[in-house]
Amino acid sequence: YKRVTTKSLVEMKANGEKIAMLTAYDFSMAQIVDGAGIDVILVGDSASNVMAGHETTLPITLDQMIYHAASVIRGIERSLVVVDLPFGSYQSDPKEALRSAIRIMKESGGHAVKLEGGKEIKDSVKRILNAGIPVMGHLGLTPQSIYKFGTYTVRAKEEQEAEKLKSDALLLEKMGCFALVLEKVPAKLAKEVAESLSIPVIGIGAGNGVDGQVLVIHDMLGMNHEFNPRFLRRYADLHAVMTKAFEDYRDDVKSSSFPSDEEQY
Ligand code: KIV
Ligand code: NA
Repeated sequence: YKRVTTKSLVEMKANGEKIAMLTAYDFSMAQIVDGAGIDVILVGDSASNVMAGHETTLPITLDQMIYHAASVIRGIERSLVVVDLPFGSYQSDPKEALRSAIRIMKESGGHAVKLEGGKEIKDSVKRILNAGIPVMGHLGLTPQSIYKFGTYTVRAKEEQEAEKLKSDALLLEKMGCFALVLEKVPAKLAKEVAESLSIPVIGIGAGNGVDGQVLVIHDMLGMNHEFNPRFLRRYADLHAVMTKAFEDYRDDVKSSSFPSDEEQY
């Protein structure tokens, strides 16, 4: 395979080819996602929710993110792997941000990092970029700030927040970020941002006017039934498929029909 690079993503945008991105947190899932031709795998701090069962992304640690990212890296041949810097690993000062990013690159083998925010974190973004580590931005709904927002509703519906988002997006591009995630913002605004930048804008709940899409893998596979945002398209009902498999197995064990004569030594 020809590996996906930060450079090829920018070329894809220039050529009008949309970018397909999914999250993954472990080796087996990464193998399948990579084999299916997904361009970018995000080792998201959404692992805090879907892997660890926390209510928010705040509790996951840098060590835990490195464990997930290293597992994903062992499963891939083609996809570009982007790793979230978790809450608390980059907000306090740029040197700590760089140290965190370096740990991810060295200890997991990930290809790039993602940070939430714009102007507030510009010194950290700069320092990481100066070390030669590619950075993906993340604006709009930034779940690490959920206690500031108070809700997971659509962001930047008001003029002032929309203007800030646009200037943050330009700033991230100017500093040298290779791509940008826009989460849960009006489609019209996301399209405007995508058209004003030459780096790709990857949307989640940001409409179809952007350069690519990302979904959390557990959500798109239908593994959790409680999460039903409008932007989510389910491509499978793994909750039903897995429940059926577990029930069939349970019944076969209870009735002694598993293992059969052919399934033993
Ligand atoms: O952690 C995550 O899964 C993310 C995506 C939703 C963009 O940041
Ligand atoms: Na994230």
